[in-house]
Amino acid sequence: MTPTIPETMRAAVLRDVADGMKVETIRTPRPRTGEVLVKVSACGMCHSDLHVISGAIAFPTPCVLGHEVAGEVVEIGSHNEHSGLAVGDRVAGGFLMPCGQCESCAAGRDDLCEPFFSLNRLKGRLYDDTTRLFDLDGNPIWMYSMGGLAEYCVIPSTSVAKLPGGVDPVAGAILGCAAMTAYGAVRRGADLRYGETVAVVATGGVGSNVIQIAKAFGARRIVAIDVADDKLAAAVELGATDTVNSAKVNAREAVMELTGGRGVDVAFEVLGRPQTWLTALDVLRDGGRMVPIGLGAGVQKAEVEINRTVRRSQSIIGSYGARTRRDLPEVVRMAAAGVIDYRHIVSRRYGLDEVAAGYQQLHDGQITGRAVVDMSL
Ligand SMILES: NC(=O)c1ccc[n+]([C@@H]2O[C@H](COP(=O)([O-])OP(=O)(O)OC[C@H]3O[C@@H](n4cnc5c(N)ncnc54)[C@H](O)[C@@H]3O)[C@@H](O)[C@H]2O)c1
Ligand SMILES: [Zn+2]
Ligand SMILES: [Zn+2]
Repeated sequence: MTPTIPETMRAAVLRDVADGMKVETIRTPRPRTGEVLVKVSACGMCHSDLHVISGAIAFPTPCVLGHEVAGEVVEIGSHNEHSGLAVGDRVAGGFLMPCGQCESCAAGRDDLCEPFFSLNRLKGRLYDDTTRLFDLDGNPIWMYSMGGLAEYCVIPSTSVAKLPGGVDPVAGAILGCAAMTAYGAVRRGADLRYGETVAVVATGGVGSNVIQIAKAFGARRIVAIDVADDKLAAAVELGATDTVNSAKVNAREAVMELTGGRGVDVAFEVLGRPQTWLTALDVLRDGGRMVPIGLGAGVQKAEVEINRTVRRSQSIIGSYGARTRRDLPEVVRMAAAGVIDYRHIVSRRYGLDEVAAGYQQLHDGQITGRAVVDMSL
């Protein structure tokens, strides 16, 4: 049976950085060619949204943020004959939404999709250069990825993966960014090998998933580095073998001691600040790979010691999202198999009305793991 789709819905709209997000009633979006409409069960709360809310990363307003969702497909746009999707499917939506047609997509590099950057990340639109979101007067509202902080969202069918029955429809929301990004960094960025040693600098929502996935790929030692003892305690539960509180001790000395004076094979940087870049490079062994995942404020720069990087053959390998079409289904399989304990990572659930307070708590460092907006609350 085709579900009834209401004319209007509630969404968290950011009209002005100074005012923050407010819940409004706007028109329910409808899918176009190659897209699906998803009734959102939950949307994860990512630090990347905070960059936009604070104005550190520019994005057009008014907009709806929220870029990792789980929900149910309620309408299928045209030309989805080969997507394998049907009304009633439960899905996770990935933030990095490949157009499926550009040169990068053709090469399988969804993470480099040019229209994703030029149309969605810069202009808040989908690939016909328009948005799906409008207020009650018909004025456009821009979409950060699918605009998941709403009761319904439109997602290109390239960017959804079906959720098997056992996957929690609320906690499963974090698969589309926190877990997929971590998978991309471990599998694609670092190309982590069995037995390698790893440091994870900043163990928040994304860092927590990096720990679990590095463990799944056979990391011998996983050193969690953070400034909050509660986050470090949570990291141990997820598979970190050692912890370093870099606010209390010298991270380089601590990691050198743990690794017999060598440093780690791979250092993931998961915050995007000059200080955490320095920490990640400081704990890296000769010939090691530093994989930055954290986004900086605007055109923020970090210092790199030229001669050490050159003479010690160290690599810096940026990693953005993952190859959604291949990797999101794999992440879902890992979650369904219990390899990624996504339920455990979700520590807080907010109703849509509480969204602004929730992001304030994320900003204040009060969220362990990941919080989600649960549309049923
Ligand atoms: N590359 C990508 O595709 C991608 C995807 C998602 C998020 N991100 C970015 O990754 C970063 C992390 O996102 P998140 O949602 O995990 O954030 P989060 O807010 O959940 O976690 C941040 C963590 O950093 C810790 N921290 C704060 N200051 C620190 C310091 N000086 N040293 C070490 N740790 C410190 C906090 O205690 C917390 O555990 C953000 O910059 C976000 O924009 C990038
Ligand atoms: Zn994110
Ligand atoms: Zn593309």
